[in-house]
Amino acid sequence: MAVAEKALGEAGRRAKVEAIIAANQGKPGALLPILRGIQREFGYLAEADLLAVAQALGLPMSKVYGTATFYSLFALKPKGKYVIRVCESAPCHVEGFPEILEAIKAELGIGLGETTPDWKFSLETTSCIGVCGVAPAIMINDEVYGNLTPEAIPQILAQYK
Ligand code: FES
Repeated sequence: MAVAEKALGEAGRRAKVEAIIAANQGKPGALLPILRGIQREFGYLAEADLLAVAQALGLPMSKVYGTATFYSLFALKPKGKYVIRVCESAPCHVEGFPEILEAIKAELGIGLGETTPDWKFSLETTSCIGVCGVAPAIMINDEVYGNLTPEAIPQILAQYK
């Protein structure tokens, strides 16, 4: 469970969500800023949040859910403290994306789209992060690592453990 969520409890989360809704309600196109606000606050959108938003804005749940799943910036599951994004676009793929991904999976004991049981790391793929010259590359939160080899992975991850 995400740290913010644990500290707040369900009622606290609900109150925060209602405050975010109230701050935007009535404005045109309120849905996106509300979802962004909840994402910023908690790191993901829980189903209960989406329901609350749908009710408050008088929108069908399918519309709110559809918007939340359309934009990659929104997550529907809590993520770890460190989100590892492995670039899978062509230049990184050619230079060893599969081997890098396997090395990270082996080091953390999780698969793609999963989070470690201690909520420290989540593992995802991403499209090009703009450093193709040093492919293969990954991002850990905002930090970029390039020219990677599978052997370098344990050392890089050790800095975050
Ligand atoms: S393709 Fe991986 S950084 Fe551009």
